[in-house]
Amino acid sequence: MSARTADGLVLYGATGDLAYKKIFPALQAMIRSGVLDVPIVGVARRGWTLEQLRAHAKESVERHGGLDAQAFARMAELLRYVHGEYEDPDTFRALRRTLGDSHRAVHYLAIPQGLFGLVTEQLARSGCLQGARLVIEKPFGNDLASAKELNATLHKVFAEKDVFRIDHYLAKGTVQNLVFFRFANTFLEPIWNRNYVESVQITMAEDFGVEGRGAFYDGAGTIRDVVQNHLLQVVSNVAMEPFPRSADPETARDEKVKVLKGMPPVEPQDVVRGQFRGYLDEPGVAPGSTTETFVALHLHVNSWRWQGVPFYIRAGKKLPVTRTEVVVRLRQPPTIVEGIAFPPNYVRFRLSPDFVIALGAMVRAPGERLAGREVELDVTHVAGKDPQPYEQLLGDALVGDPFRFARQDYVEEAWRIVDPAVKADTPLHVYEPGSWGPKEAEDMVPGGWFTARE
Ligand code: BG6
Repeated sequence: MSARTADGLVLYGATGDLAYKKIFPALQAMIRSGVLDVPIVGVARRGWTLEQLRAHAKESVERHGGLDAQAFARMAELLRYVHGEYEDPDTFRALRRTLGDSHRAVHYLAIPQGLFGLVTEQLARSGCLQGARLVIEKPFGNDLASAKELNATLHKVFAEKDVFRIDHYLAKGTVQNLVFFRFANTFLEPIWNRNYVESVQITMAEDFGVEGRGAFYDGAGTIRDVVQNHLLQVVSNVAMEPFPRSADPETARDEKVKVLKGMPPVEPQDVVRGQFRGYLDEPGVAPGSTTETFVALHLHVNSWRWQGVPFYIRAGKKLPVTRTEVVVRLRQPPTIVEGIAFPPNYVRFRLSPDFVIALGAMVRAPGERLAGREVELDVTHVAGKDPQPYEQLLGDALVGDPFRFARQDYVEEAWRIVDPAVKADTPLHVYEPGSWGPKEAEDMVPGGWFTARE
């Protein structure tokens, strides 16, 4: 165990939804793989007993991936429970006692953002801070100003190197593969720039709605919910420069920030917002809400490599499919055969729900007449299984590896880019559930959005 490895894990919001759906299953998997064997202290406001928390954790793993009797038995041994209000110093005194010999704990705040300041101050006062590390969940602010305020609040107590901001997209193997595939092969590098690339499209489509999260979603909207974080991370992975070989994990994070620094704030004319018909009837949604459930954006990356190449992003709920894809479209080849238009080649990365890397190409179609046929060279089946994002991220936080977490400057740059889009009063277009969003979004991309056939 290195000196950076944590010797305890404190989970705030232990009785909440995120813990139930994602965190307990991740902890069980970490115990199974030997990554986790330190006390796990659940903290929450509910006056439960430890036995109730254990029963809740058991139900959680049974419903989300299945019970592993041996790993769960160890988890039950490692679990502790502290209940109390976050305002009450006694809660944190009890936490300090419960941590016992653990002095380098990871404190994971799976609680609303409004409580982060309160909890970190209480940690400072209660002597729980020495050697501690903080893990927090998005959203990190609601705009640039509030993100800066939040960072200032956290930094009163934690140094930036000890703050781990979760963006679960960063832990998806498919998202990491964007960088890996680019830099582990030589064939892409010569064409991966403005000379060959005509445009980049990123689509994050979900065929479901807000699924009981109406109140949260209505205060956020698509730009805050998935563009500011997940999709700008994808843009960075597509556009970043190679980072130098170094043991310093910051070199990769530095390159990602550089991409965002080259992106001007979104202009209102480069935004199309939509809302699916029926959204206003969702529980928790304010009457007459103008929150978007769909957005299409035209972004610019002003770097030597990318200047002039449009980056189009669209994301939305109640679309025809659930699928996240990146399509890097190359410039159209000249037509050398009368009557046959050669479509642009492209590289397609499917990031979710499954994994695909495909190269779109043109071949001669068999037959008497000369004709072309579009085909894909497809890399889909790579044996093996990635850990679930939360398993990966909590494991990284325990050993203190920041690579898959969002850094303060990154978060603030991302807000700077989308701030005008969340604030400008751009028109809101109603679209039909099951459609690809408003027509205005279709018109944004010359040549149209790419939609994979399957
Ligand atoms: C979350 C958003 O961060 O990401 C959700 O709040 C969205 O609205 C989800 O559905 C998508 O994540 P994934 O991993 O299912 O693609």
